[in-house]
Amino acid sequence: MPPNNQTEWRPTGSSLKPLKAVIPFIRPYSGTLTVAIIVLLAASAATGSLPLAARYLIDNGLASGDSAQIDFYFKVVVVVILAISGLSAARLYLITWLGERVVADIREKVYAHVIRQDPTFFEITQTGEVLSRLTTDTTLVQSISGVGISIALRSSIMLIISVAGILYTSPSLTLMILVLVPAVVGPVIWISRKVRKLSRTAQDKVADSSGMASETLNAIQTVQAFTLEGLQSRRFGDAVEASFLAAVKRIRIRFVMSFGSMFLLFGAVTLVLYMGTREVLAGNMLPGELAQFVIFTVLLGSSGAMLSEMWGEVQRAAGAMERLIELLDATPTIHCPENPLPMLHPGEGRIHFDHVTFSYPSRPDTKAIDGFNLDIASGETVAFVGPSGGGKSTAFQLLMRFYDPESGSISIDGVDISAADPKDVRSLVGVVPQETMIFGTSALENIRYGRPDATDDEVKAAAIAAAADEFISKLPKGYDSFLGEKGTRLSGGQKQRIAIARAILKNPPILLLDEATSALDAESERLVQEALEKLMQDRTTIIIAHRLATVLKARRIIVLDEGSIQAIGSHAELVAQNPLYARLAELQFRSAEEDAQAMQTVAANA
Ligand SMILES: Nc1ncnc2c1ncn2[C@@H]1O[C@H](COP(=O)(O)OP(=O)(O)OP(=O)(O)O)[C@@H](O)[C@H]1O
Ligand SMILES: [Mg+2]
Repeated sequence: MPPNNQTEWRPTGSSLKPLKAVIPFIRPYSGTLTVAIIVLLAASAATGSLPLAARYLIDNGLASGDSAQIDFYFKVVVVVILAISGLSAARLYLITWLGERVVADIREKVYAHVIRQDPTFFEITQTGEVLSRLTTDTTLVQSISGVGISIALRSSIMLIISVAGILYTSPSLTLMILVLVPAVVGPVIWISRKVRKLSRTAQDKVADSSGMASETLNAIQTVQAFTLEGLQSRRFGDAVEASFLAAVKRIRIRFVMSFGSMFLLFGAVTLVLYMGTREVLAGNMLPGELAQFVIFTVLLGSSGAMLSEMWGEVQRAAGAMERLIELLDATPTIHCPENPLPMLHPGEGRIHFDHVTFSYPSRPDTKAIDGFNLDIASGETVAFVGPSGGGKSTAFQLLMRFYDPESGSISIDGVDISAADPKDVRSLVGVVPQETMIFGTSALENIRYGRPDATDDEVKAAAIAAAADEFISKLPKGYDSFLGEKGTRLSGGQKQRIAIARAILKNPPILLLDEATSALDAESERLVQEALEKLMQDRTTIIIAHRLATVLKARRIIVLDEGSIQAIGSHAELVAQNPLYARLAELQFRSAEEDAQAMQTVAANA
């Protein structure tokens, strides 16, 4: 897949086969489609009869000077025009509706499918790519699944009608048209290919510049902190100028094309008219027949142009559909087995790692977890400590069944989790991550992510238990306050307490705590520790510890390095016996003064 996600331009399909996949999405609306096609046929028939009406108007009405006849033919024309307008509007409505409906269904289905994928999928597929498929590609499909079908059908029908029409009116003039068409269409097609290529370059350049803008605006503080405003403006300016130059190139060619195609087209029409007029003068043709011929020719030209335009659309849509199918065909390696083992509810929180070995799919040669054996009793608190890359987060991921072990097994309450529904497993596990994700909604709703069916009172009770109630109440709109994109309106400690409130609300028997590395001030630290204390009560807790205070709370400390357990013991034991731990303790835990402070907190809470 192409690495550039910002490009609005999307590659075309190599074949039209992927378009077949649109059919199942259209099928539920086959009633609407049928009505639309009937309307379309009727509209085409009405349009096709217009030249005939014009001819009779001229030859029977004008030629005879019979005003009653003329009135009659004009009435017929008005009725036909009314029919064409009404039917065309109805067609437009039905067809556009169909396109919008189909693309909405595709979007919903793709999103629902993608959000259920396992982490491996997201390692391979960039989120930007998924997003552009959800937006740009579905829009491309929309254009063909509704309006496209309609234009293609209508143009094909009109093409057939108008060819039959000119043949019927004057075979000799038709022959002339057949000679003229390639002379006009050939150069136009050739130039428009060139234009398309140049448009693509221009669009790529625009994408480059907007990619640059979004990157720098997202990192605005870094840019300003390094006072790179001037440099970035210059770079952005260069990118914009490049896109302008690409656009100018395209405009120049369009200038030539516009001139050439107009001249050729009108020239050809004039030539046909001239020849036709001579036929009329020679008495081989009636004036009305000439008018009929010319109108048919115009219909022929416009439907031909429409069809050639559609061809490009169809190819683009095929490419888009191909990419959407790719997403829809992705199957998560972690899925619910056919007969999943039920987990215990409410769970006791007993955890057993049995000779677990695991490598990330993207790095099959390195064992992230290697021969991991560990029993954790119900309600116990253990701490994972180890150097960066030791496998602590990986153990968490395995416990939540984001990945399955390569060999060995993990069980919760005696049930092998790889034989259970991952949703069922995850319902037993609460996570307080290092970096709390805050969603762009209110404080109330943000906490409710812990358990979507919780009542407002339950959410507030959880907030109180997490020591989050105080700061939330002080927000401008209390619990209804919008927490801002990515929670930029909250401090680190406040975000952590939101995460803790979520976990309290979820009330799982197992708690996974990835302690934040960033230090909080003493007061926030105390509040967070208190909240955690409440949360950890009566739960099996595994903490990835970065603070001495936390380590001291754990009965057992597990020292993890290179994916395997190096030592197990209490802080005092490990400091004395395990050199790796002793060094980590010295480096990783905070300075002696802060430690003393932390110990006081522990003492105060004990
Ligand atoms: N998604 C991934 N794909 C491939 N390898 C990974 C992935 N995530 C982690 N790893 C690798 O697995 C090993 C264990 O990583 P893990 O994240 O479990 O370490 P950690 O103990 O949590 O480290 P830290 O303290 O820095 O968070 C590392 O070598 C890491 O590079
Ligand atoms: Mg980690």
